[in-house]
Amino acid sequence: MAFGWIDEQAELRRRAGLVRTLRPRPADSPLLDLASNDYLGLARHPEVTAGAAEAARSWGGGATGSRLVTGTTELHGELERELAAFCGFEAALVFSSGYAANLAAVTTLGPHGSLIVSDAGNHASLIDGCRLARGVTQVVGHAHPDGVRKALGPHEGPAVVVSDTVFSVDGDAAPLTALAEACREHGAGLLVDDAHGLGVLGDGGRGAPYGAGLAGADDVVVTVTLSKSLGSQGGAVLGPRRVIDHLVNAARTFIFDTGLAPAAAGAALAALRLLRREPGRAARARAVAAELHARLTAAGLEAVRPDAAVVSVRAPSPEEAVRWAADCRTAGLAVGCFRPPSVPDGVSRLRLTARADLSGAEIERAVQVIGAARP
Ligand SMILES: Cc1ncc(COP(=O)(O)O)c(C=O)c1O
Repeated sequence: MAFGWIDEQAELRRRAGLVRTLRPRPADSPLLDLASNDYLGLARHPEVTAGAAEAARSWGGGATGSRLVTGTTELHGELERELAAFCGFEAALVFSSGYAANLAAVTTLGPHGSLIVSDAGNHASLIDGCRLARGVTQVVGHAHPDGVRKALGPHEGPAVVVSDTVFSVDGDAAPLTALAEACREHGAGLLVDDAHGLGVLGDGGRGAPYGAGLAGADDVVVTVTLSKSLGSQGGAVLGPRRVIDHLVNAARTFIFDTGLAPAAAGAALAALRLLRREPGRAARARAVAAELHARLTAAGLEAVRPDAAVVSVRAPSPEEAVRWAADCRTAGLAVGCFRPPSVPDGVSRLRLTARADLSGAEIERAVQVIGAARP
């Protein structure tokens, strides 16, 4: 039978406790949410939803085609200019997702004959970018600038070092300054994915590269997503104008993909303006993460010290992680559950996101539920 092999894979997955299922989510869910990536609590902010609605009314439900075919709207231009200025870069280009932005950045900056040096803990979208790129990829140890130096040493020709700024599983930060130094010693470019840094790190949430003094450098390129702190959907690449112009001409996920939906662009622009006006939201997300970590640790749980707004709690096994998350849900708390193959090190975890809009009482309740449901 044509697809019979799928049943065998499903059986293996079931035996390993790794089956994934989709759960319905009502619009008015009563759960306390520590599972989403809505770090600043903006996804349902009235200004953000109004931004989406107004954009859809003005420009339509979709972008109607690739921006190279049907044209680029003033809304896309505004978002790109304001995002680049906020994060301290010369130019920006928006994509229909952060995933597409990462595929674009890695494939266009890692051409035939080049070396791509990739952190072992990188997000799947960066890994897939390496798989699609024509350059040769060398994976180096997690957060390991000397490993990067060693990889770059013997290579002649273009090279780019690729890393998350904040790793999505454990919430730890990359050593950006040391990585930039290693790149500069070898004339390599640095490409970092700030999906979990934008809105949380750097002055007023301008991102991890801004915080590390790397914003605007001519050898640094940053990707971001609009779907986490900005409460919308979509992604962007930020960097020198020369890189952005290259992407317009060479990035297949830009050229052959319908432009970012106007509603998503409008929502992201409204969220960005809100964050500029209320920069304290970034610090509040970091403070919530620190408080969650302190309280969970005090309750005897093994949690990784957060560098941004992701708090990772170790679980003994995939099955127990799933059960733990399900028991939290039954008690009214939504938490993320990360297990293989999403986690390359094979360690299962609960993943909590520290939202800036969580109250002290909500933090207390979350810690109490997680502690009571522990395996
Ligand atoms: C580090 C990282 N990069 C990229 C992405 C992809 O972004 P998007 O959801 O906008 O496609 C994600 C998660 O969604 C992520 O965690």
